[in-house]
Amino acid sequence: MYSEKVMDHFSNPRNVGEMENPSGVGTVGNAKCGDIMRIYLDIDENSVIQDIKFKTFGCGAAVATSSMATELVKGKTVNEALKITNRSVMEALDGLPPVKIHCSLLAEEAIHAALWDYATKNNLVIEGLKKPKSDVHEEEEELVY
Ligand code: FES
Repeated sequence: MYSEKVMDHFSNPRNVGEMENPSGVGTVGNAKCGDIMRIYLDIDENSVIQDIKFKTFGCGAAVATSSMATELVKGKTVNEALKITNRSVMEALDGLPPVKIHCSLLAEEAIHAALWDYATKNNLVIEGLKKPKSDVHEEEEELVY
């Protein structure tokens, strides 16, 4: 049911933890399943994401997609990170079962929420970044794969 990569990132998730004095922090939840995700970003003066950590009260698919998302985002610029979608994370994991697709939204939305926090704290406008939603469930119906 799950790919080897999903199992690997679930059993051995990368970049789990918290961060003191992050450049931005974002927390999102999915009201349907009750799962929650928090992402911390350390962004340098050149807008490069030097470090990223995540914490979740979420299912295995949420853990695996967040772990992969943090690997894809680390070392990227803010603008590059914005282009990493839940779809690209799922591709990097060799797919997810259809009923678990919504779980991959938690990481994407939490990264966007952390970038929003960073932009707000620094009076920046990041093109293409929208104000985060508190509940990712709102968008599920629109997901077609
Ligand atoms: Fe809630 Fe997967 S079941 S994030």
